[in-house]
Amino acid sequence: MASDHASSGVPAPAASPPALSIRDLRKTYDTGVQALKGVSLEVAPGDFYALLGPNGAGKSTLIGIVSSLVNKTSGEVRVFGVDLHADRDAAMRLLGLVPQELNFNMFEKPRDILVNYAGFYGIARAEALLRAEQELRRAQLWDKADSMARTLSGGMKRRLMIARAMMTRPRLLILDEPTAGVDIEIRRGMWKSLREINAAGTTIILTTHYLEEAESLCRNLAIIDRGTIVQQGPMRSLLATLDVEGFLLDIDGRLPPALPQIEGTSLVASDDHTLDVEMPRAMDLNRVFASLDAAGIRVRSMRTKSNRLEELFVRLTGEEAAAKREQAA
Ligand SMILES: Nc1ncnc2c1ncn2[C@@H]1O[C@H](COP(=O)(O)OP(=O)(O)OP(=O)(O)O)[C@@H](O)[C@H]1O
Ligand SMILES: [Mg+2]
Repeated sequence: MASDHASSGVPAPAASPPALSIRDLRKTYDTGVQALKGVSLEVAPGDFYALLGPNGAGKSTLIGIVSSLVNKTSGEVRVFGVDLHADRDAAMRLLGLVPQELNFNMFEKPRDILVNYAGFYGIARAEALLRAEQELRRAQLWDKADSMARTLSGGMKRRLMIARAMMTRPRLLILDEPTAGVDIEIRRGMWKSLREINAAGTTIILTTHYLEEAESLCRNLAIIDRGTIVQQGPMRSLLATLDVEGFLLDIDGRLPPALPQIEGTSLVASDDHTLDVEMPRAMDLNRVFASLDAAGIRVRSMRTKSNRLEELFVRLTGEEAAAKREQAA
């Protein structure tokens, strides 16, 4: 195809712009809190992107600015190349938002919530009714279409938020902690529908405190802490940078008072019969077992200490990490 363009003299189409591009975004609230201190990131079309960070990191502020609910202090935001500042309405039409707090009318019915929302975006009622059925079915809420929203369970309310955002067929769907407070079974159901939405071509950005959720769903991620991005890139390569692994070993009987020294590892008794081991990823676990065996310590079973993303997260965020960053700067 490229040669067609060359021979006809028609320039090849420009590479499609990022679904979201943010440059040096800053936000200082009236209270003086600097919620964003110069954040830059890019999300490719079709991506499933995680925005992670501890409480107060600035995630909702960032999402608020992208969805025009919060005024930025400075910086640039583009949605599929459309400048949010210069052409807000056009940018907003490309975007769907699932905010952190439930914000539909509890005394309306799901079908009406969806249809009225579409009407607000200028979608004709007949079309809105069709879409509402599709979205309620996808959200497994079709049998609740005409029940008062107030009577839905917590998980159903969260799914209704997603169904509503999908009514405008957004090209970029942004979800701020969509699964907060939802049990694991319902969460997995929501993952499935988010994967479907993504597979059908919608770019998704998600904030979550459940790291296994990000690990399971997202291809790329940014970790944000105190208004600064502390790490970003493909999930896989970030996890690969982790050079330390942690295990908990369940011991037969009691641990001796003096633990053996194994070079390159740290061994700590977390209680009388559990050993907490940290070791380089490249190291052979059998060496640890052999040394323990020689010291008369028999391992009955083992489990990994933490999810790897959690380890990365803990290492990059919080007091200690912030102090280190400041030192390095
Ligand atoms: N409307 C506001 N006025 C003043 N300060 C605010 C406002 N909204 C947020 N902040 C402050 O900005 C910082 C970032 O808050 P934000 O809500 O963006 O964090 P978050 O990463 O979404 O946290 P969480 O995980 O708890 O939802 C915090 O210090 C917060 O107190
Ligand atoms: Mg938030």
